[in-house]
Parts: sequence; structure tokens; C-alpha cells
Amino acid sequence: KRDASPFVPDSTELARLREASRSCRGCDLYRDATQTVFGAGPDHARVLVVGEQPGDREDLEGEPFVGPAGRLLGRALLEVGIDRDEIYVTNAVKHFKFDREGRGKQRIHKKPSRTEVVACRPWLLAEMAAVRPEVAVLLGATAAQAVMGPSFKVTRQRGVLLDAPEEFHGCPELVLATVHPSSVLRAPDRHTAYAALVADLKAIPHS
Ligand code: URA
Ligand code: SF4
Repeated sequence: KRDASPFVPDSTELARLREASRSCRGCDLYRDATQTVFGAGPDHARVLVVGEQPGDREDLEGEPFVGPAGRLLGRALLEVGIDRDEIYVTNAVKHFKFDREGRGKQRIHKKPSRTEVVACRPWLLAEMAAVRPEVAVLLGATAAQAVMGPSFKVTRQRGVLLDAPEEFHGCPELVLATVHPSSVLRAPDRHTAYAALVADLKAIPHS
């Protein structure tokens, strides 16, 4: 079966991984996207945050979480005493998946399939092995299932610090799942949804 593994160098050097990810053809998503959006942040961050996939802005800029969801995430993290600059942020899927809709042919985000998440997973595993975070924060079902498996339910386990699966060999040791910041932006009661996200993030252990 086709996935990213033939493109992932056997290395724990982030710069090498990032460079190699630019030419990944592990699934078809590279075809329509502008570029690979690899993770960003300190090489050995204590906290690694996993999102779903880059959005429109991230696709154009080549950096994760630089759009509206990223701003909301940064603000929520600050409320629990974490500076965005001290964490490593990445996505379960490294290319933007979208549909063109409407007269302006606006690019509308499309949820990645399980096949695409599984295809891209070797990059996520390589990032975990390189960064060696203590805790991974999983934003939304796609990120949570990429790490915890397809039967994981965010609604049932959000805000609870859990042991990471054995296959991660302690990097990370712990995971914390919560909702995706985009879902907060779409929520009918944004303030309540935001407060619940912040409450979940409070479970991130302090160093
Ligand atoms: N949403 C994500 O999941 N990741 C990004 O990088 C931006 C928005
Ligand atoms: Fe490779 Fe992931 Fe992009 Fe698919 S989405 S081409 S697996 S980097």
C-alpha cells in the first residue's frame, strides 16, 4: 500500500525531515496543494501540538497554524501559561485538501480521509522521534485518531491526560486530546466552546 514511508529519511534531524517532506508523494494530496506544510517550532519542545491539516493560509505560507485557528490556539495556550513559541506545532496530514466552490472558486477545506491520514502518519512518527516531546496535544478527531487509533473518541476523553500508545516509545509519554480550534470558531456559542478548550488545555503538565 502507498504511504509516505519511502520518502521519510531514516533521521531524527528535523531540518532533514522537513526538507525531504517537500517532495513527498505518499498520497495524491500533493497534486493540488501549493506545498508541504511541515511542523514548526523548537527542535526539542516539551509540548507538541497536532492539528488536522494545513488550511488555505497555511498552504500559501508553508507554515502550520498561521491563520485564524492558529491565532485562537495561541491565545488559548497563553491562558494556561504556555507561549506558542516554546511548542512544536504540526498536522496529522501535511498537504491542504480542498474543494473549489462558488463563483469565486474559493478553496473550501475538505476533511482528509482515513487513508490519507494513515499515508501521512510516517511523517508524524518521525517528528515525534525527532522532537521527543513529553506530551502531545491532539486537536480534534483527525489528530486524535492519527495518534490513538481509529476508535478513539475525543468527546469521551477530552481534557484527560492519557498514556501514549507503546509504539511511541515514550515520545511522547502522555497525550491530551481536545477539540480543534476551528470547531470553536464555528460553534454557535463561541465563548463557551473557547472556555471548554482552555479548561482542557489546563491539563497539560507543567515542567
Ligand atoms: N487547522 C489545522 O488543523 N492546522 C493548521 O495548520 C491550520 C488550521
Ligand atoms: Fe505525503 Fe502527507 Fe502530502 Fe500525502 S499528505 S503527499 S503522505 S506529505
